[in-house]
Amino acid sequence: MRHPDTIPETNPPATATPIEKIETSRRSLLRGLGLASVGAAALAAGCSKVGTEASAAPAPATPAPDTSGPAILGANESPFGPSKKAVEAMIAKAALTARYADGEGEELKKQIATIEGVSPDQIFLSNGSGPILAAFGEMVAAKGKGQLVTSIATYEGVPRTVAGYGAEVIMTPLTADLSVDLDAMAAKISKKTTATYICNPNNPTGNMVDPVKLKAFAIEASKTAPCFIDEAYLHLCDDYDGNVMTSLVREGHNVIVCRTFSKIYGMAGQRLGYGIASAELAGKLGQVTRGGGVNHAGIVAAMASLADTDFVPTMRPKFKAGRERLFAMAKALNRPIAANPQASFVFFDVGMPNKVFAEKMMAEGVRVVGRSWKGYDNWTRICVGEDWELDRCEAALKKVLTA
Ligand SMILES: Cc1ncc(COP(=O)(O)O)c(C=O)c1O
Repeated sequence: MRHPDTIPETNPPATATPIEKIETSRRSLLRGLGLASVGAAALAAGCSKVGTEASAAPAPATPAPDTSGPAILGANESPFGPSKKAVEAMIAKAALTARYADGEGEELKKQIATIEGVSPDQIFLSNGSGPILAAFGEMVAAKGKGQLVTSIATYEGVPRTVAGYGAEVIMTPLTADLSVDLDAMAAKISKKTTATYICNPNNPTGNMVDPVKLKAFAIEASKTAPCFIDEAYLHLCDDYDGNVMTSLVREGHNVIVCRTFSKIYGMAGQRLGYGIASAELAGKLGQVTRGGGVNHAGIVAAMASLADTDFVPTMRPKFKAGRERLFAMAKALNRPIAANPQASFVFFDVGMPNKVFAEKMMAEGVRVVGRSWKGYDNWTRICVGEDWELDRCEAALKKVLTA
């Protein structure tokens, strides 16, 4: 199944074929990693000899950015790529992909458990966090008899699955400042409720809920049914320590915290996510999400990323600078905007259906998300890109929104 944000809603400019677009994006990332000289053949070959050559090669001079394809600002991927150490680990271990990665998976669980202060049996892995949201949604849909309480304009993974199984989804409105309204959600919880879902920072609005209120909400809500907190973007926010909710799992509340390596760790295409929950729930959900096993390259890349302790502190200011630039662009055009974005994107009113806006932006060589969120048809979400992508976006926004 395709990621909802990568479904092309609009045609790229005639100058770039789909293959060229992928090539541009791949070249940009390799350039960022200082691995441009390794090339596609070396990455594809993936043998340890190549790995040795890649890591021994002198750092190439950074060539000018390749701007021939569209700016890709629609799917909240990282324009900065993964840790170099993750790439080196994947190349060095590529030949091991002949084997299932159960042993390495257990090692990764131990590594995450140590960081999170839980036991390894409280961690479960998945090929990206999307399958975790889907497995949870299927579980709480309870064969069509369940009920999910969540917010309007939030990430669709869980609500879409619950609705797909014919169960009830209650979506409470956002507050006046476009934040998830925890009081409104609490008021909807009843004996029928089989789960609550909160995304923090929220996708697509980008803002966060007050951590004291979230803790109180989750403790209360989890007395009725599991409370799922999606922290896909938490590493990008200004105050990770003040907002992380894993203490709720450690304290024994019926809470699931979900993470992904797709965002700050720059591994969206590699697919690795994990959940933190009680050992019982982690065991149950892990049975579903690991299916035939979790991908070997993703596991070794995740392990190397976590061991590269400089990586997150290096990436966080890059995303912050990008989202502040996007915020300033929307503000300068007097657009209503969700305040205080803390993820990798901003959410603002473009005064026309988002699909139309996306088509106009694509005509200017900028891909933005072409779908909209219930109740926010005229709002778009634009994510951080490389400098040249943001330059092009700024010019396109001026043209499209002031014409
Ligand atoms: C809030 C949130 N959770 C989960 C996901 C799923 O991401 P992945 O399957 O790449 O881990 C996304 C993807 O954009 C997201 O925005």
